[in-house]
Amino acid sequence: MYVCLCHGVSDKKIISTVHKHQIHTINELRQILPVGSCCGKCVRQARQLIENEQSAL
Ligand code: FES
Repeated sequence: MYVCLCHGVSDKKIISTVHKHQIHTINELRQILPVGSCCGKCVRQARQLIENEQSAL
């Protein structure tokens, strides 16, 4: 499922990036993926994915 439609970034891509790069914040994620850099509608969902992955560790 796409989280960021503007840049075609999927939830799987975000989750794998969170694990690979030890991401803790949306700002850290945005240094690697372009989420939120266009309309910004994906930021809330991307942040939620990060929080879910952190709490699952
Ligand atoms: Fe991600 Fe627009 S949906 S910036």
